[in-house]
Amino acid sequence: MPSTSLELGPSAAPIRLAVEPGPEALGRRVAGLLLAALRDRALGLSQRPLGLATGRTMEPVYAALRQALAALPAGERTELLAHWRSFNLDEYVGLGPADPRSFAATMAAALGEPLGLAPAQLCLPDGLTADPEAEAHRYAAAIADAGGLGLQLLGLGSNGHVGFNEPPCGPQAACRCVLLAAATRQQNAPGFGDDPAAVPERAITVGLKELLEAERLVLVVSGGAKAEILRRVLREPPSPELPASWLRRHPRLQVLADAEAAALL
Ligand code: GLP
Repeated sequence: MPSTSLELGPSAAPIRLAVEPGPEALGRRVAGLLLAALRDRALGLSQRPLGLATGRTMEPVYAALRQALAALPAGERTELLAHWRSFNLDEYVGLGPADPRSFAATMAAALGEPLGLAPAQLCLPDGLTADPEAEAHRYAAAIADAGGLGLQLLGLGSNGHVGFNEPPCGPQAACRCVLLAAATRQQNAPGFGDDPAAVPERAITVGLKELLEAERLVLVVSGGAKAEILRRVLREPPSPELPASWLRRHPRLQVLADAEAAALL
């Protein structure tokens, strides 16, 4: 389906919205955007790294990206992967890459190992740091040194968070260590034996500040359970209670949803 524009009222810029029938088609479409961004990097058209996300929404995206890369001629694939550099949004404090529940392990399994990326190409905050605030500053500085974020992939939390920018959160919030909301620990409990209390209490997250400075934002939302929060994020006035609503301040926000998630728009 072609992209349409969602008109939000006379004062706001229209948001580019694309709706695909289901999560697999959505994944293929988003993977196409990532592949194009990798080509831009390889051609020197953009120096900025990719911003990547974890979560169930991204599983079909990364599966489709692996497939798309595998279908390329070997020379082109090698060229694109040689130029790969990405920064993930967030990591749980207390979990390192050796723990399969960490986002570092998730990314290594989804992309790092199958694509043969070097650890330095696939950056995440260090969850095992002794000083999470200092690590957040280091991570923000590494993103700035890399030129800022290029194409930033984002999922949507059930409480309206992006990354781990939990409500209430304003648009100036920078990369930092946060306390996770009860709703988030509930949402992410399936990765922790369905026990919200087993989900770490804190995380390091890229802030809305760095996200709003990215070259472009791609918000990906799937499933009927996200339909109401997506409607609120796109239709209600931006507010700290809905951190993702600040993304609408970005001049290049693209929303890609499956039919169930887009049902209330
Ligand atoms: C998590 C992550 C986000 C993710 C979001 C949605 O808590 N911190 O980066 O995008 O929540 O997750 P899911 O795709 O599993 O619904």
